[in-house]
Amino acid sequence: MADLEGNIQAKDWGLDQPQKSWDFHIKGAGQLDFGMRHRLSRIFGEDGHTAMLAFDHGYFQGPTSGLERIDLNIVPLAPYADALMATRGILRANIPASVKNALVLRASGGPSILKELSNERVAVEMADAARIDAAAVAVQVFIGGEFETQSIANLNAQIDAGYQYGIPVLGVTAVGKELTRDARYLGLATRIIAEFGAQMVKTYYIDEGFDQVVAGCPVPIIMAGGKKLPAIDALTMAFNAIDAGAAGVDMGRNIFQRKDPVAMIQAVRGIVHDSLSAGQAHQLYLELSNGADD
Ligand code: R5P
Repeated sequence: MADLEGNIQAKDWGLDQPQKSWDFHIKGAGQLDFGMRHRLSRIFGEDGHTAMLAFDHGYFQGPTSGLERIDLNIVPLAPYADALMATRGILRANIPASVKNALVLRASGGPSILKELSNERVAVEMADAARIDAAAVAVQVFIGGEFETQSIANLNAQIDAGYQYGIPVLGVTAVGKELTRDARYLGLATRIIAEFGAQMVKTYYIDEGFDQVVAGCPVPIIMAGGKKLPAIDALTMAFNAIDAGAAGVDMGRNIFQRKDPVAMIQAVRGIVHDSLSAGQAHQLYLELSNGADD
């Protein structure tokens, strides 16, 4: 029965306090719509940082070492990640829908490692990203690559579709073999991606000028992992990136190719969210892995 009395007797109006309005803690996102902000808040913690686990490699290179069995090798890592970056095929086949992680859906692709990698197309319609409940979609952008303009068109198509659904886009800088990874190039690539409207950008760490790359990008920069390095080097890279202003890391091989990936992801998380130094995080890795110093 309708509560007519409750409506008449309502009295908790808080007349002594103005209605609260909420500041938003994610770089460049303060004027986005509610759905976008809500999804970004699933990816980034209250500290504005994210520990993202990338295992989308199969979309162009097939069964990568460490990703042969997603159910056995990746699912146990999920509780330690804020976000999971994967293809829709792997999400639907291998990831339990009960996971609490934000899902970042690989949404561009086409060529395999046997072909010209920059020749990508949009690979997922935004309606399907919405069905999956993606918190964002990821699109590769090949600045300076053979199919640069086409990859920008893919990015723009997904950004337009993302606005229709309130789903943010993560633009991923892809560095071809012939391109130099330096502050000038990465500053160019990340800024272009943000100017077109991506709400986040993933890019590589560089020793010289990464802070300038971050400063010149109006949206959060998420550090890409890259090939497996010794654990201390990977953790040092993650620490340096966060220290230089990155909002988080999106690491794959440097986590899942370890002897003890569960220990490594906790060490990475310690840097991202708990202000651990690289040395402290490495110590944590050694303790949790019983000395697996790989
Ligand atoms: C990179 O652009 C792709 O998304 C990769 O499949 C993946 O994110 C790479 O991760 P990592 O280099 O850390 O193994």
